[in-house]
Amino acid sequence: MKIISVAHYDALSQAAADHIAAQIILKPNCVLGLATGSSPVGAYRRLVERGLDFSQVRSVNLDEYVGLGPDHDQSYAWFMRKNLFDHVNIDQSNTHIPSGLAGEEECARYDELIRALGGIDMQLLGLGVNGHIGFNEPDEVFCKGTHKVALTESTIQANKRFFARLEDVPASAYTMGVGDILQAKRVLMVASGTSKAQAIRDAFAGPITPKVPASILQLHPDFTLIADEEALSLL
Ligand code: F6R
Repeated sequence: MKIISVAHYDALSQAAADHIAAQIILKPNCVLGLATGSSPVGAYRRLVERGLDFSQVRSVNLDEYVGLGPDHDQSYAWFMRKNLFDHVNIDQSNTHIPSGLAGEEECARYDELIRALGGIDMQLLGLGVNGHIGFNEPDEVFCKGTHKVALTESTIQANKRFFARLEDVPASAYTMGVGDILQAKRVLMVASGTSKAQAIRDAFAGPITPKVPASILQLHPDFTLIADEEALSLL
């Protein structure tokens, strides 16, 4: 694995945008695996500012809440449009996110879609404070393909501020599995701030275990972590 240490979040965003831009320039019709959350927002903003040509790019997102349609302002589909897709010349029909409104057959469909696209050229990841990647939470086993996960009570509680009623808060999500992520040709993780320091230490300076899902990235042949000094402070 390669670790790129930067001073702060803005430098991290620039560096991540450099990597993604290089991927698009090298292969204009590449398949980008994309993430939501606060970590990649700066990189998306930098990519938009560069005016790159996304016209042939295909994308697959990591995850989506079960029960939320693409027009719900808490859905990951909405997040991606607001933070990236609405601001670049990507063909929206080439952007793919698990459908939160579909039944569990969505999982097999999504894995088949990734295969049909020829696999992921570059997968962008954030890192959960508990070491999760996508919605692959600490577990007894690694889950290979796209699957449905029950959200933890703490996630549901944290999300309830975004919804009018507690019963509207999604209780589950569809997520790519660690197998899908590991099969990407390149994996790029961005992590910022002291809240990620312990997870980085556990994932990359400890044993490979499903109790720290990101630790499996130690086995990936082309994995780059871009992190700021705070996030790397325990490594
Ligand atoms: C997002 C995702 C999550 C986040 C992780 C970090 O699609 O799958 O694994 O990457 O929870 O979130 P932030 O970046 O908000 O700290």
